[in-house]
Amino acid sequence: MERIKTGIAELDDKISGGYPKGKSVLITGGPGAGKTIFGLHFLHKGCTDGRKCMLLATEETPEDILMEAEIIGLGLQQYIDNEQLVIGRVLESRTGSTETAAQFGAGFEVSELDILERVRSVPADTEVVVIDNIGVFALDMGIKEFRNKIDTINHMLTNIGCTTLIIMDDTAYELTHKLAEYSVFGSIKLMVKENPYTGLRERYLDIPKMRGTDISLELSLFDITEKGITFRSSKTKSEKKVEK
Ligand SMILES: Nc1ncnc2c1ncn2[C@@H]1O[C@H](COP(=O)(O)OP(=O)(O)OP(=O)(O)O)[C@@H](O)[C@H]1O
Ligand SMILES: [Mg+2]
Repeated sequence: MERIKTGIAELDDKISGGYPKGKSVLITGGPGAGKTIFGLHFLHKGCTDGRKCMLLATEETPEDILMEAEIIGLGLQQYIDNEQLVIGRVLESRTGSTETAAQFGAGFEVSELDILERVRSVPADTEVVVIDNIGVFALDMGIKEFRNKIDTINHMLTNIGCTTLIIMDDTAYELTHKLAEYSVFGSIKLMVKENPYTGLRERYLDIPKMRGTDISLELSLFDITEKGITFRSSKTKSEKKVEK
């Protein structure tokens, strides 16, 4: 299976080289768990590798996202300028927002359309898509409707060959009975837990599912620094193979 690099070398190593090409991977986690930063690494890597990328943002403004990326050394403005990256602000239609694209300037799109309509209009040459955060659309619908919606989003993006990260907050994920996880090709969970020995709170990544991929079920420890996501040193698969 072809892979698309995640933008985090240690994560690539954990999932046989990257996210499965043309498939969707779900990233879930609580507030501040690092979900958006995982998305930023993927978009930045996609852009530096010359791919057409799109971020559909439902919560943060494009300005905040660009600033967050800049702070962790994953500047994206140049890719907005050369039209490799489009940041689409998808607002819930029920907010009745009157914001217009003009407020954000070139490279940004504002849509009051339903998320399905917005995904339907993703250009066919787009290779990398990040949806951050799909959870807001889950709150005002039944779980069956949500499951149908997420399946449809998956099919539409898979049909045009996009490799997609679907970010979902833990609250919406739990409220929808974790259904999203069955719909996607892979699932990554981010969490913060207290280390019982040190009493310190630490960040963990769990990969419960990645179809067609040899994954370890062990949790991985990571940090968020001024360089973005970095994993605490654990032996990589290639190092383990050398030892054997
Ligand atoms: N330069 C930095 N150095 C250290 N930690 C940082 C830095 N920048 C961000 N962080 C950490 O990353 C966290 C935010 O990560 P991120 O925005 O990806 O979370 P999230 O899971 O998307 O949260 P939300 O659910 O609110 O959208 C911050 O709470 C902060 O702890
Ligand atoms: Mg976020």
